[in-house]
Amino acid sequence: MEKGSLLYEGKAKRIYATDQEDVVLISYKDSATAFNGEKKAELAGKGRLNNEISSRIFLKLKEHNIPSHFIEQLSEHEQLVKHVTIIPLEVVTRNVAAGSLAKRLGLEEGQVFDQPIVEFYFKDDQLGDPLLTEDHIQLLNIASKEEVAEIKKQALAINEALRSLFAEMEIDLIDFKVEFGKDKKGIILLADEISPDTCRLWEKNTNRKLDKDVFRRDLGNLVEAYEEVFNRLGGKQHV
Ligand code: C5P
Repeated sequence: MEKGSLLYEGKAKRIYATDQEDVVLISYKDSATAFNGEKKAELAGKGRLNNEISSRIFLKLKEHNIPSHFIEQLSEHEQLVKHVTIIPLEVVTRNVAAGSLAKRLGLEEGQVFDQPIVEFYFKDDQLGDPLLTEDHIQLLNIASKEEVAEIKKQALAINEALRSLFAEMEIDLIDFKVEFGKDKKGIILLADEISPDTCRLWEKNTNRKLDKDVFRRDLGNLVEAYEEVFNRLGGKQHV
């Protein structure tokens, strides 16, 4: 597998072409950002941990019959994925009130919901990723009604699988964000990453934060928290 030219650089990852038309390489950076890029830091070890954790989670989801763009982990910082066209939605699923939802609706952080809720945000840094209704999604021609229903169904299935995976690790899955892409046949596929950057993970019983809120809210050492998640997932196994 030949690493080709840089196709795209985001806040936390770089995407490279490869010598295979439908395969791209993702390289995870050590950059941490929050509040739409206003807070930034370089944290040695973060890129490796997110790559390891996200690779491990995509493999576990596959065991739960949840397909994704993930092909294989290549190295500490790199993974190979299927090329997809990203649908510009941040799909957030929540089991417990926290973050922007607690603030927007005046809910107490930690309130457990009877059933998970799914929200859509427009993936647009300039607009600050605004919350979208399903009518907004159609207005902006982002996805059809049927596609939104399919995305919501997949998000809920991912939530069930992730909840049981994290429960085995004595961690409560509070909420998470995923992105979906379309492959060349138009099939909607889970893409991007699932890591402590994109989930809220609270240690059972203590509610110790094991996610990016450690960085957002200055709660301690982010790399140590991510290392804890990685160790509970089984730690280093690949060569
Ligand atoms: O900030 P908010 O409460 O809306 O975040 C909900 C979930 O989505 C959190 O797990 C957060 O880490 C994740 N998220 C993300 N990327 C964003 C916004 C939120 O991964 N741009």
